[in-house]
Amino acid sequence: MSETATLPRRSAADRGPLLSATGVTKTFRVARNSSGNTRLTALDGVDLRLGRGETLGLVGESGCGKSTLARVLLLLERPDSGEIRFDGVDPFALKGRELLAWRRRVQMVFQDPYASLNARMTAADIIAEPWRTHRDVMPTASARAARVRELLDLVGLREGDAERYPQEFSGGQRQRIGIARALALDPEIIVCDEPVSALDLSVQAQVLNLLTDLQQQLGVSYVFISHDLSVVRHVADRVSVMYLGKVIEQGPTEDVFDRPLHPYTAALMSAAPTLDRSPAAQGRKRILLEGEVPSPLNPPSGCRFRTRCPYAAARCAEVEPAPVVAGSVSGSVSGSVDSPTTPVADDVEQPTATSAAAAGLGSAAVNPRHVEHLGLCHFPLDASGAPIHS
Ligand SMILES: Nc1ncnc2c1ncn2[C@@H]1O[C@H](COP(=O)(O)OP(=O)(O)O)[C@@H](O)[C@H]1O
Ligand code: SF4
Ligand SMILES: [Mg+2]
Repeated sequence: MSETATLPRRSAADRGPLLSATGVTKTFRVARNSSGNTRLTALDGVDLRLGRGETLGLVGESGCGKSTLARVLLLLERPDSGEIRFDGVDPFALKGRELLAWRRRVQMVFQDPYASLNARMTAADIIAEPWRTHRDVMPTASARAARVRELLDLVGLREGDAERYPQEFSGGQRQRIGIARALALDPEIIVCDEPVSALDLSVQAQVLNLLTDLQQQLGVSYVFISHDLSVVRHVADRVSVMYLGKVIEQGPTEDVFDRPLHPYTAALMSAAPTLDRSPAAQGRKRILLEGEVPSPLNPPSGCRFRTRCPYAAARCAEVEPAPVVAGSVSGSVSGSVDSPTTPVADDVEQPTATSAAAAGLGSAAVNPRHVEHLGLCHFPLDASGAPIHS
């Protein structure tokens, strides 16, 4: 790799998260709606962090803000409020050449390998395109040609593919070109927004394996957005679950998938295919979510999920729950699925087989961990495990 392709980076001793978002809110101006709102809140106080060499899965139904968050992390959208820290620096405070240099460090792989490649450019030109903006990275024609050959090889294409046009490649090969283009600037983070959803199943596996191999070779971190939960389970180290502009649960992939705490996560995961043959996993009932996702122009008061939550109580309209962390909730919860230990306040209505049945979900939907969740929703715990009534 060319010397000039390597950016000055902070030392390994400075090991905070590579990228973090704290309280990130992003609104868009829209035409006035029936409730008189002219601003749509696409992101509302989002917190997340991405470690070095880690894959963070981002899941949630369409319209929950995944792509908007991706654009903020790519420094393409400036948040209204909140903080982004990239390697300890606020990249939105940078200007001009400094900002341009910073942008190299985070690149994107697009969803549609058919639409995202210019049909009039050869594979070599497409891969070399980022160097037109970032001229100093690859200043000479010979360096560019050599690096294109390296990148083709890295993504499993042949040197002879360099002069072919996108329409001469299969969907999987086109996505490999897209990945090579994303790698051209030697990024530390690649945001993959539904990178395999336009591909056949067998090709999906090949592209996912390529992304995993590249991560092992290059140490690159991924923010991996997908509506396909089995894909996220396959690639992600940690998962953040979004609902209507908020991260409602996050944690290690296995905890989020197998031991979800938030009723929305539980419903999403109950629909995800699993290879886990344990009786607990196999006996898991599918929870059908009823109703539509409310409009982000006019989100419900209190908990945004309350209009679809089988466990909603009156207080859910008044109190906004804190996001839950699967696996290590509030640092004080050690309860398992079989033995929830979180204190639950007396005046919070408990979910019962009857209330779940009334919600049309059947008695099988009642999971003891949701009792735990309900307590957490309304009464976050202090360090001693006591509920905080704020
Ligand atoms: N530029 C924009 N102007 C107005 N509304 C937008 C814009 N971009 C996204 N939105 C809205 O923000 C919400 C989140 O969108 P998006 O981030 O694309 O969700 P997802 O990727 O999860 O499907 C949606 O309601 C969408 O219509
Ligand atoms: S129990 Fe209440 S606060 Fe918790 S997810 Fe359901 S509606 Fe939201
Ligand atoms: Mg999207």
